[in-house]
Amino acid sequence: MKQRTKYGIDAPRVVRAYIVFGVLLALPALIDLTWPGSTLIPAPWRIGAALFAALLLAWAAVMLRSSLVGKMRVRDRLVDALALSGEERVLDAGCGLGLALIGCAEKLTTGKAIGIDLWAAHLSDNNPDAAWANAVMEGVADRVEVETGDITWLPFADAAFDAVISMTVIHNIPSQKARDQAVREIIRVLKPGGRIAIFDLLHTARYAEILRQAGLTVESLGCDLLWLWPCRSLLARKPEAGFQAIRRPSGTEVFSW
Ligand SMILES: C[S@@+](CC[C@H](N)C(=O)[O-])C[C@H]1O[C@@H](n2cnc3c(N)ncnc32)[C@H](O)[C@@H]1O
Repeated sequence: MKQRTKYGIDAPRVVRAYIVFGVLLALPALIDLTWPGSTLIPAPWRIGAALFAALLLAWAAVMLRSSLVGKMRVRDRLVDALALSGEERVLDAGCGLGLALIGCAEKLTTGKAIGIDLWAAHLSDNNPDAAWANAVMEGVADRVEVETGDITWLPFADAAFDAVISMTVIHNIPSQKARDQAVREIIRVLKPGGRIAIFDLLHTARYAEILRQAGLTVESLGCDLLWLWPCRSLLARKPEAGFQAIRRPSGTEVFSW
């Protein structure tokens, strides 16, 4: 039997907390409401507690569905928008467990999909071994590389990639200056004529501004309500000529955790 690929749950601690508090609140409220004489929760608060528990559990269900179903659909849309022919070098900036990385690798024949992540422990349990295991499970390991690095300072030469994809990553970078730098790094490593697909929860208007300032054309790939939040997707194209060459700032300006 084929093993199931695991791409993880976004904001796992939040989802866990909603489920735990929801269940802890729902159980006494349900016992009180169904068991005559039970007063685990004072009567005036019982209905409110039951409703609040239902809200927390519904919220957890929406977050789980967004990670397990909604994000897959967005990934497929972004990968399709890159219009890969099979020979490209593709970068997944902040690859996590490889959702977009593997989606791109599945479109490649002689090309390579390279995922980079700094495996920020305070954000998720993502790790390179698990990303690699997913690539093996999906049968694309021969077309995948997983690296460790910071997307605000990509360890790649200028114009090293034909396409770049990034999903729910850049908003995690705490300052606008560093987020701007991450977008500029993505532009720098992209070849003329290449495409960038970005999906994120926040700041997408700013990413579009930085992309346009550098001479790329930007179009919207739509808005999805995931995690009860409107998330936007962008597709940017770097022209063959006429874009602003991106220079990295000096080392002292580099953002670090
Ligand atoms: C919410 S996860 C998304 C992972 C994957 N793109 C996906 O959609 O499943 C965010 C990932 O971005 C990574 N990340 C955050 N800031 C980063 C940075 N500056 N450079 C590289 N990776 C970063 C985190 O380590 C984490 O794996």
